[in-house]
Amino acid sequence: MKITVLKERAEGEHRVAATPETVRKFVALGANVSVESGAGDAASISDKDYQESGAEVCPAQDAVKDADIVLGIQAPDVMTLQGAKAGAWVAALFDPFVENERVEAYAKAGFEALSMEFMPRITRAQSMDVLSSQSNLAGYKAVIAASDQYGRAFPMMMTAAGTVQAARVFVMGVGVAGLQAIATARRLGAQVSATDVRSATKEQILSLGAKPIFVEEVEGIEGEGSGGYATEMSEEYQKAQAELVSGHIAKQDIVITTALIPGQAAPQLISDAQIATMKPGSVIFDLAVAQGGNVEGSRADEVVERHGVFIMGYSNTASHLAADSSALFARNQYNFLSAFWDKEEGKPVLDEEIGDAVRLTKGGEIVNERLKG
Ligand code: NAI
Repeated sequence: MKITVLKERAEGEHRVAATPETVRKFVALGANVSVESGAGDAASISDKDYQESGAEVCPAQDAVKDADIVLGIQAPDVMTLQGAKAGAWVAALFDPFVENERVEAYAKAGFEALSMEFMPRITRAQSMDVLSSQSNLAGYKAVIAASDQYGRAFPMMMTAAGTVQAARVFVMGVGVAGLQAIATARRLGAQVSATDVRSATKEQILSLGAKPIFVEEVEGIEGEGSGGYATEMSEEYQKAQAELVSGHIAKQDIVITTALIPGQAAPQLISDAQIATMKPGSVIFDLAVAQGGNVEGSRADEVVERHGVFIMGYSNTASHLAADSSALFARNQYNFLSAFWDKEEGKPVLDEEIGDAVRLTKGGEIVNERLKG
């Protein structure tokens, strides 16, 4: 059983799908691990670190040759996989709703594409959930990046020269990233408020010491779809939410938006007219910028100034913390494959619940229900 780890080829992608820790664990399971030379450079992991953990470090072509399983952060181009075994598994992020051509190419090439973002949100798969592990770090980084852009301090400070007021931070969308954004802003001493369409988040906001800002008594308030995800809200709700946000946002110094709806473009939560009501020097960090953005005018990897307000967002936020995000991503993948490791066969054998959820292609076909609908 040969497991291959390639260097990421996408621009700005600094993460790597295995660390010396997970290599060691795969080797202990009986696998041979090949790592492309330089794969860990951008995540501060050297070839020597991989070698010492038991991996063979070699050029891509040799690493891929006869691979049974290829691990990646972002799914590699099928051309890169030439030489891998017929029907080899590739476990990575596939962005399957957007990258249809890539999924088709995998099917055509006969590989089994395992989409890490389709991991079901069930208790036993929590430790395999890359969306959670990466969103958590992204929520943290958004606050740190916004605080750096902000020309004032976060905590209240009483000094001999006078008092510095605490920053007001508003978090929109309280999933995994939003919860970490709240916690981080609180740790930095800000006054924090937050909103979501799922009313279940109200208690979570309170428990982190922040203030919930919620649309009440409007039809469609329970924006909870399947698997704990949000659904698109009614028009009446959207109008009420926009009014509520308009009143609140004008008083905020920092806004962090994180709202996503699976399989759809991110909902727009902040309009240019609302930005115009904010104080100059305020900062908005749009964590959804790569999925279409929550904020009118936001552009990935740029700081846009509108009405004196800075709007920012990264195309790949987790990649800005490559050492930690790689460590967690790699553990998610190890937890996934090792949970299904069949000792007699010397390889993982997936069950229906998780296997069918993550598998996009098999035997030359696209087999995933979510892509067929
Ligand atoms: P997400 O990244 O899909 O969305 C972020 C947040 O934006 C969500 O809380 C969503 O409700 C909110 N949102 C969507 N539209 C909005 C709008 N118009 N206005 C304001 N907020 C809006 O969500 P994430 O972080 O993936 O978490 C979704 C849920 O899944 C949570 O309940 C989380 O606790 C749950 N979860 C369960 C796991 C498990 O059981 N294995 C693992 C991770 C998360």
